Amino acid sequence: MQTAQIRQRFLDFFQEKGHEVRPSSSLVPGDDPTLLFTNAGMVQFKRVFLGQEKVSYDRAVTSQKCVRAGGKHNDLEEVGITTRHHTFFEMLGNFSFGDYFKKDAIAFAWELMTEVYGLEPDRFYATVHHSDDEAAELWASEAGLGADHIYRLGDKDNFWQMADTGPCGPCSELHYDLRDNPTPVTSTEEFVELNDAGIIVELWNLVFMQFERDASGELTPLPAASVDTGLGLERVAAVLQGADSNYHTDLFAPMLDRVAQIVGRDYDPDSEEGVSYRVLADHARAVAFLLADGVFPSNEGRGYVLRRILRRGVRHAWLLGRREPTLAGVVGG
Ligand code: SER
Repeated sequence: MQTAQIRQRFLDFFQEKGHEVRPSSSLVPGDDPTLLFTNAGMVQFKRVFLGQEKVSYDRAVTSQKCVRAGGKHNDLEEVGITTRHHTFFEMLGNFSFGDYFKKDAIAFAWELMTEVYGLEPDRFYATVHHSDDEAAELWASEAGLGADHIYRLGDKDNFWQMADTGPCGPCSELHYDLRDNPTPVTSTEEFVELNDAGIIVELWNLVFMQFERDASGELTPLPAASVDTGLGLERVAAVLQGADSNYHTDLFAPMLDRVAQIVGRDYDPDSEEGVSYRVLADHARAVAFLLADGVFPSNEGRGYVLRRILRRGVRHAWLLGRREPTLAGVVGG
């Protein structure tokens, strides 16, 4: 399935379930000093979760432009080296503002993954916060997952917050086993090991938004229990296209081809140079979107992060032998 179709099916599915399709917001969060960049789909709805703003809908769905290259969520140094990290990426998300909660969030995710995208039910694993018996029971009742496909982890993995302060809550992640012939996982340790190795990959994070964290770390209940989910478009595209890396999907192939044209050598995914090709594809995309949202290179804040991305891109172009401007050619018309 092409990435454009994956995105559209997500939006259509949730629209049919009564969600308002909302546009992506800017990469620069409006009036929010706690955050450098929009790093998740929920950012544009922060004030709605906190009960500070009312909107005319209580369910929404988006495909949100995100950057994770500075601040709390920072993946910059992983990019190019791993198969799944990006500075810029798109997050598909459905949201409930005091409307449905865990049961529907889990049932919707399961229906989309298995019936719309046609992924294999037996390959899924869910993780839940160790205190969240309800979510564990719902993965069994709504999705039919067996006890050996549901694991309980701590705050590091299964409690989500956008920044040091703001809305937050326990979360439940849906993971997919990529092995040719999966063997049953028998313990939490084995699950974590396969997960860390990228063999069982996290696809979707369902956050059960229940609290606001203040500057002293104190948690106060939100006015209404809500849902915020995030499904990485690049990751789900890789799984649905049977690609061994997000970079080997239809999203990145044209950019890697461009790099190859500019450099004059084919892309070899397994070579050391392959890292630089992927860095150029990722960073060119991030720089283009950041510039389009009005961020310019500077000595501080957002502009400094952009400068670091540019520098890293230039360094990798240099490693490929380039001494001329390169990044613009990767995304340019
Ligand atoms: N906010 C959660 C995340 O970024 C779910 O969207 O993972």
